[in-house]
Amino acid sequence: MATINENFLKLKAGYLFPEISRRVRAFSAENTGKKIISLGIGDATQPLVPAIVEAMKKAVADMADKVTFRGYGPEQGYDFLIEAVIKNDFNPSGIDLNRSEVFISDGAKCDTGNIQEIFGLNNIIAVTDPVYPVYVDTNVMAGRTGQADKNGHYGKIVYMPCTAENNFTPDIPAQKVDIIYLCFPNNPTGGVVTKEVLKKWVDFARSNKAVILFDAAYEAFITDPAIPHSIYEIDGAKEVAIEFRSFSKTAGFTGVRCAFTVVPEQLQAWTQDGGAVKVNSLWNRRQCTKFNGASYISQAGAAAVYTAEGKKQCRQIIDIYMANAAVIRESLTKLGYDVYGGVNAPYVWMKTPAGLSSWDFFDRLLQKANVVGTPGSGFGPAGEGYFRLTAFAKPDDVKEAMQRFAAVR
Ligand code: MLT
Repeated sequence: MATINENFLKLKAGYLFPEISRRVRAFSAENTGKKIISLGIGDATQPLVPAIVEAMKKAVADMADKVTFRGYGPEQGYDFLIEAVIKNDFNPSGIDLNRSEVFISDGAKCDTGNIQEIFGLNNIIAVTDPVYPVYVDTNVMAGRTGQADKNGHYGKIVYMPCTAENNFTPDIPAQKVDIIYLCFPNNPTGGVVTKEVLKKWVDFARSNKAVILFDAAYEAFITDPAIPHSIYEIDGAKEVAIEFRSFSKTAGFTGVRCAFTVVPEQLQAWTQDGGAVKVNSLWNRRQCTKFNGASYISQAGAAAVYTAEGKKQCRQIIDIYMANAAVIRESLTKLGYDVYGGVNAPYVWMKTPAGLSSWDFFDRLLQKANVVGTPGSGFGPAGEGYFRLTAFAKPDDVKEAMQRFAAVR
């Protein structure tokens, strides 16, 4: 008799975004011809920029020629991309990395979901609430949590509420925790942290032998020069932090797939009897067994992000999205909503009108304005009464969505 991994049965409803798609499809089926505008999932809408397209075309031509054809690439990624990442994303802020510390992958969702595999099941996990659901669900699947309670909190996970009251900045937990997921700029709240705040986390992790899993997928959207882009801007962070980055939102790679994860050589975690183990070696071992590398064509495209033209062109795309964020923020503020984020992040986080739950507001907005957003409660109980709008839509759609919003108020 084949038995299942019963941890999967602990998971609450379906994954958030498929559930939203399901509701939108049902609405469309009953309302044919209505134009629905999605400010829901954070999915790129601007096309790949010319520098990337040219690099990918060249890579396809390489693959079509028996002299330059490439089969399996290194599981950790091609040196040409790893070197470009280190030189452009880290060296300018004084961060030195070895090539062995950067692992190219096919997505930050996969990496933030898979990373927990190399840590023991007895670790106590700390997450913000609201939180990107992947961090929680993958730990549930692995068996690192208890059942969900009536609020949707899983047993054994330490939740760090992030609300307007604490400026969406999690407090350091009072109890001992072993693995801490932080995402800044934050999905979903759009909040950011200063170097001083990040230093407190690094110091906490160092004194508790904890590991920080730092999701920096949205760092390119930071506009304030004082806000750190990498956790390694903080002294000592290489001893305690893994950082995740992605080309999805910065270069329109949601469909192309390419990302990377930094696992410093200094980072250690421990065996049950206290023996130190290099986390980098474990992640390398895991990747070599389960992953055959991101495609050569994707990596060639990603490397073009770092050329002079690529940088300029990608910046223009980011500016389009951030202009959208400003339109959303300003329109909703004029309409009297409490609005957060959207300044250093492509997500705007708003309070729902009094008395409406996040899902009630989702339904109202879909039905009355034919606009899709993401219910805050889908990211955790502390997200109840909030709603997330993404700045990744097309500018005209964003403007139209804001006009329609006015009718719903
Ligand atoms: C989101 O909308 O939260 C993101 O698109 C999800 C993701 O990056 O996986």
